[in-house]
Amino acid sequence: MAIRTVAVVGASGNIGSQATKALLEAGFTVTAITRPDSKSTFPENVEVRRANPASVEELTAALQGQDAVVSAAATNVAAAGEGQDTLIDAAVAAGVKRFLPSEFGHAHHRFPDEEILGKLLGGKVRTLQYVQKKAEENHGFTWTGIGTSYFFDWGLEVEHMSKISPEFDVGMLGFNIPERKATIFDSGNEIWSATSLPFIGRAVAAVLLHEEETKNRFIDVVEFQTSQNQVLAALEDALDVKFTVTRADTAETERTGHEKLAKGDPGSFLDFLRVWAFRDGRNDAVPDEETANKLLGLPEPSHDVREAIREFVKPK
Ligand SMILES: NC(=O)c1ccc[n+]([C@@H]2O[C@H](COP(=O)([O-])OP(=O)(O)OC[C@H]3O[C@@H](n4cnc5c(N)ncnc54)[C@H](OP(=O)(O)O)[C@@H]3O)[C@@H](O)[C@H]2O)c1
Repeated sequence: MAIRTVAVVGASGNIGSQATKALLEAGFTVTAITRPDSKSTFPENVEVRRANPASVEELTAALQGQDAVVSAAATNVAAAGEGQDTLIDAAVAAGVKRFLPSEFGHAHHRFPDEEILGKLLGGKVRTLQYVQKKAEENHGFTWTGIGTSYFFDWGLEVEHMSKISPEFDVGMLGFNIPERKATIFDSGNEIWSATSLPFIGRAVAAVLLHEEETKNRFIDVVEFQTSQNQVLAALEDALDVKFTVTRADTAETERTGHEKLAKGDPGSFLDFLRVWAFRDGRNDAVPDEETANKLLGLPEPSHDVREAIREFVKPK
């Protein structure tokens, strides 16, 4: 029987809100699972159920009647790996057929031997192992992990990074658009993959519409294959202004990342993201032919960000 009812955890968040929108547009019935004391708000046509994320019993009750669960829980939860095991146990107990863990990021499965990736994304890796084990043990319970590489629109906004530490004066992808400045790592020519939030929302809905093909596997979707220099040129062209460019060396970024990690500073994660994405010769990008875009009926990855950047900087 096809998936019709979908519970979204974190349905008001960056990913959750876009997933909810796309799921509703695709005709799914969406229920938001939110924390008892959450102030989050949801669209009118979404049923809201409250449950303590630490309680299997409460979550199991909240997941009654749901065919699928999309976990779009916040970074702190997903990275720490906390909460998702409880949610997975509840999903199994409630008879859910498909579970999407809160991945939505780096295609870490492509670098299984990289110790630092395992350390920084350990919670996500352990969650994947847990959901896989549960699928093996419970007939009818399945999972799909969605790798999206770097958030494109979110990654161009500086405030998400400055919230982590005021030391970060450019966004995840290296730009501060209001102040017309950029930090370019190494040559700036390295190609990396990125996906904007609405595209990720569509990918979530597409996975549940392609239930059989996406069963028990990790897939990657990519909207753009680009470099920092291409984004910089597109921004300068769209805004008709030159950016002030600061140069950075990923060897130095990696060194400070290790120092911060030793001190438990969460900013270390951002340093390593930059090393993975921008280091010359790293090949972090997911090759076009290894993406699931075609399988899901999504547009093929674009190698030209100019139009998207023009749209992004257009006064709203
Ligand atoms: N690829 C990238 O560049 C990138 C960038 C950012 C994030 N991500 C990933 O995307 C996924 C979703 O992140 P997001 O940015 O969409 O999340 P978010 O918007 O920060 O938060 C999503 C929801 O999580 C719930 N939440 C917050 N704190 C919680 C806690 N302590 N315990 C339980 N629930 C909590 C809240 O929902 P309620 O209020 O309804 O309970 C919140 O609306 C994560 O896996 C994250 O690592 C990837």
